[in-house]
Amino acid sequence: MAGKGVFEEIIDGDVYKYYADGEWKKSASGKSVPIINPTTRKTQYKVQACTQEEVNKVMEAAKAAQKSWARTPLWKRAELLHKAAAILKDHRASIAECLVKEIAKPAKDAVTEVVRSGDLVSYTAEEGVRILGEGKFLVSDSFPGNERTKYCLSSKIPLGVVLAIPPFNYPVNLAVSKIAPALIAGNSLVLKPPTQGAVSALHMIYCFHLAGFPKGLISCVTGKGSEIGDFLTMHPGVNCISFTGGDTGIAISKKAGMIPLQMELGGKDACIVLEDADLDLTAANIVKGGFSYSGQRCTAVKVVLVMESVADALVDKVKAKVAKLTVGSPEEDCDITPVVTESSANFIEGLVMDAKEKGATFCQEYRREGNLIWPLLLDHVRPDMRIAWEEPFGPVLPVMRINSVEEGIHHCNASNFGLQGCVFTRDINKALMISDAMETGTVQINSAPARGPDHFPFQGLKDSGIGSQGITNSINMMTKIKSTVINLPSPSYTMG
Ligand code: G3H
Repeated sequence: MAGKGVFEEIIDGDVYKYYADGEWKKSASGKSVPIINPTTRKTQYKVQACTQEEVNKVMEAAKAAQKSWARTPLWKRAELLHKAAAILKDHRASIAECLVKEIAKPAKDAVTEVVRSGDLVSYTAEEGVRILGEGKFLVSDSFPGNERTKYCLSSKIPLGVVLAIPPFNYPVNLAVSKIAPALIAGNSLVLKPPTQGAVSALHMIYCFHLAGFPKGLISCVTGKGSEIGDFLTMHPGVNCISFTGGDTGIAISKKAGMIPLQMELGGKDACIVLEDADLDLTAANIVKGGFSYSGQRCTAVKVVLVMESVADALVDKVKAKVAKLTVGSPEEDCDITPVVTESSANFIEGLVMDAKEKGATFCQEYRREGNLIWPLLLDHVRPDMRIAWEEPFGPVLPVMRINSVEEGIHHCNASNFGLQGCVFTRDINKALMISDAMETGTVQINSAPARGPDHFPFQGLKDSGIGSQGITNSINMMTKIKSTVINLPSPSYTMG
């Protein structure tokens, strides 16, 4: 149970503590931040409203702990990560319960998120041992004008303190996807969880605490973005930021110092459907891709671009599947659950009303109760409608009919986003050509967009972000190259 049993240490009264210097603490601010349950729209949990002074202390501790962590053998770092992964999986039920209450994630998906996170941590430990255990050896005489008098040995060293800021939709998984690579690479880690999702994140951090990482190496500060958001991202003690979220990332990138940034800032993933597509497979993927977790995924299918000749048939198949989606509470594991906040629901409704005024065809009646929005397919969407371009982050999916593949590619590439896209066709040659033409970080052929498996590279072009994620890329991104050059008095191949 959340905040009970082994987790009792992390709660004081009804307010969850923050984690600093290996201890669970109350903020000196005496203030807390409420977390509203999207389903009941009542306060479910409260977390500490940390102060800037507390952030300063966390940064000092992180810096000190990192120095000795970087000297801890790689295999020992991996061992602790494996331990944390196992503890995390053991406590999947309690953590999943928080995900259900804080972000209305359907019960089964919530458990999957925690298990996936444990697997991600273990895989990262293994990958780190492999790739960080290798370096490069160069000799000087391959460059013009040089004899073989220099041997260069290069290896990967940590950056220092990594600041991790995950989003509400995967507060555990997109936290560990930053924490594990940072730690295996020898960095310390400061986590600023999203408000909605903070309690799930604190439970997850407690699992790392139980695993026995050194004091100060991992911290988790909670609070208002207005008080500690900019303070954290502009803090001189931070050596790298890994952020997943919305346009705030663009603002962070303008304010952050000369440090590596890894950012994933959303997408408007297009699904291009050709005449020869397997329409049953396509419809199944559109429904899974567009409506899983009520469309609150960066990688959700966010616009269907279908050839006019098969559009009626495809829309009918999608409509039939949408009719089967269950709508209700996350506790009952419904497919469609309330969206995260009332303001998100209002934003989604604004997009729907705009499409209505401009003449989109509603395949279902629009229905909303509180934060719960029934799944909606909008047909005959045109480029003058906001929903053609903006990401609803909700269970509303626009369909645009196209008369040529070029028209589809043009719409996809005119977006300011470029995260993923997908194409459905039986012609692999066409699929590859379309993939090359789509300006997105990934193109899926005959499947909906998705980040996983978690060791695959994951990146966005344009406003969708910078840097590449996925386990190997994240480890590499959280290191820098250090070289040692051995200078010989004479070329090494002259003896004998
Ligand atoms: O929301 C952004 C996530 O990176 C999407 O991950 O494809 O596993 O749902 P997912």
